[in-house]
Amino acid sequence: MSKTVSGFSKFTREEKVNWLANNYFTNVNEGVATLNQYLNHNKKLQQLHDEFIENTITNFYVPYAIAPNFIINGKTYAIPMAIEESSVVAAASLVSKYWSTRGGFKTKVISTTKVGQVHFMYEKNFEELYTYFKEIKTQLIEATDSITNNMRKRGGGITDIELRNKTSELKNYYQLHVTFETADSMGANFINSCLEAIANAFKNKDIKIVMSILSNYVPDCLVRAEVSCKVEDFFTENSEYYAQKFVEAVQIANIEPYRAVTHNKGIMNGIDAVVLATGNDFRAVAAGAHAYASRSGKYKSLTNAKIENGIFHFWIEIPLSLGTVGGLTKLHPLAKLSLEILQNPSAKELMQIIAVAGLTQNFAALKALTTTGIQQGHMKMHLMNILNQLEANLHEKEIIIKELKGKTVTHNAVAEALHKLRTHN
Ligand code: MEV
Repeated sequence: MSKTVSGFSKFTREEKVNWLANNYFTNVNEGVATLNQYLNHNKKLQQLHDEFIENTITNFYVPYAIAPNFIINGKTYAIPMAIEESSVVAAASLVSKYWSTRGGFKTKVISTTKVGQVHFMYEKNFEELYTYFKEIKTQLIEATDSITNNMRKRGGGITDIELRNKTSELKNYYQLHVTFETADSMGANFINSCLEAIANAFKNKDIKIVMSILSNYVPDCLVRAEVSCKVEDFFTENSEYYAQKFVEAVQIANIEPYRAVTHNKGIMNGIDAVVLATGNDFRAVAAGAHAYASRSGKYKSLTNAKIENGIFHFWIEIPLSLGTVGGLTKLHPLAKLSLEILQNPSAKELMQIIAVAGLTQNFAALKALTTTGIQQGHMKMHLMNILNQLEANLHEKEIIIKELKGKTVTHNAVAEALHKLRTHN
């Protein structure tokens, strides 16, 4: 056996597992048993998952949970979240309840434009290129007719093609900057197919196409979610003091990139969990969100807060490119069910729900950070992970959770409590 392999994708699953186990596992039996344990007994379902990607040997589970009681524009939602981080769903549930008694979330989609680009090199004179582009522009759009036909029926399609001169930044470099509406689909395959057809129709002996690809930077596919309440309703005690501190925490994230990255990471805890649960592409969403946070040239907070005329306002504006049809959305049974739980939203409605999930996480984090500190809640949720690491049984868990209630949870404190419990019994 060798640590490199050729033709791996042609191996049967068993051959793949054997090769892997013999080359990389410390304990072959244990490793193989772990892989097998996560296989689904439903053969058809397993095959579906096998075929999502290449070389599948098992499934990697992430908890799937529900955060209920979200009131968004007057409509109630239970939001499905797929995430491994212990405090995220608990935080979402607390915050949804908090805002449900303060008017709920208000949201709106600002724009839905997606972008794709044909990147090319051209050495001759720009005027000639521009004339050629103007002459051929209609043909470029026509070249995509067979691809855009269905999308146009659904209200989408290509909205414009622009020739962009980028030669001041890179010698001979130009783009066809193409804008799209993709209705209820995220549209990655649609956009890429259109771009390749456009590039094909556009190229000539003087134009060297370098590549054609959608952009995950979608600053014009933007959604806003907000909450507001009277400052006096913000907290039960010292409301004004804490509301002010909350606003200052957002201001800090707006001017300090070290803080902004963590602040936005917390937002993405909520966003990615729903994006994943609905079968959408969380890498695309995260890349686009962080790029948007840097749009001024400095990395800043994705949320904002202010107190005006005695009212506390907190809001997020974030680009979200999502689909409720296509991709895995209807193919992955849990993604499909997530959309059903969300009452089969349009892509626009899903943008609003997911923006709320992001705002919620940021609210939970900042509220904790500016009051008790983050560790109290985090360690409370993490307690179960520590107990599992220490292989506590159900009975031991119950006793220790009770014992540590209201106390500072640390790994040591849990280990000590467990040790005491075991030695006294
Ligand atoms: C942890 O996953 C997220 C936080 O660090 C976010 C924040 O600091 O705002 C709690």
